[in-house]
Amino acid sequence: MKNLVSASVLSADMLNLESEVRKLENSGIDMLHFDVMDGVFVNNISYGLPVLEAVNRATDMTLDVHLMITDPLKYIKRFADFGADIITFHVESESDVMETINAIKECGVKASLSIKPNTPAEAVYEYLPYLDMVLVMTVEPGFGGQSFIPETTEKVRLIREKINELGLDTDIQVDGGINAETAQYAVNSGANVLVSGSYLFKAEDMKKASDGLKEVTPSV
Ligand code: DX5
Ligand code: ZN
Repeated sequence: MKNLVSASVLSADMLNLESEVRKLENSGIDMLHFDVMDGVFVNNISYGLPVLEAVNRATDMTLDVHLMITDPLKYIKRFADFGADIITFHVESESDVMETINAIKECGVKASLSIKPNTPAEAVYEYLPYLDMVLVMTVEPGFGGQSFIPETTEKVRLIREKINELGLDTDIQVDGGINAETAQYAVNSGANVLVSGSYLFKAEDMKKASDGLKEVTPSV
């Protein structure tokens, strides 16, 4: 099976978001990745509900929302109502993890849990049976355009091993510094959903760059 590619809207030209969305659609990209930051959980503020709502009106693409916010539970229903198809929140946030997973599922949305680079893989193990996806951050969350942290691939490997052991088919998403080279390390370790911002948006040929990411297969 091919990898899925989720394009990070953080790298898009916000003034021309509609044409950016068309470009992503025409490049055969699978999902739009929405990085929502509250300036407290991470040292940056991005965008939120109105932008998601506007994009949802303009496209049928899967909307993959990554909440980097302190209290995700409080906002689940609104992100679901505004068009989220997948909601990822952080195990390091202040919300109760199981309650938040249940709130996401009650809205008919796919539930995903993320860990930052310094959080051990074990932090997600007990939640795996309830999750559609795990997001292993491959940079410190907060900004696009950072370099991939190679040590994070060991956590991808451990989580994939655990998923297999439990007989689940949970997706593993990686996010941060993904390009043709780092995608190979992530896929070798067991990732199958690749978030990419600067690499895709800076590519001369976005479709070619995205197809390249989709076609990466484990080389070890
Ligand atoms: C970082 C975000 C990422 C980021 C990825 O906090 O979660 O989604 O936009 O961008 P690149 O691919 O440029 O590292
Ligand atoms: Zn993200």
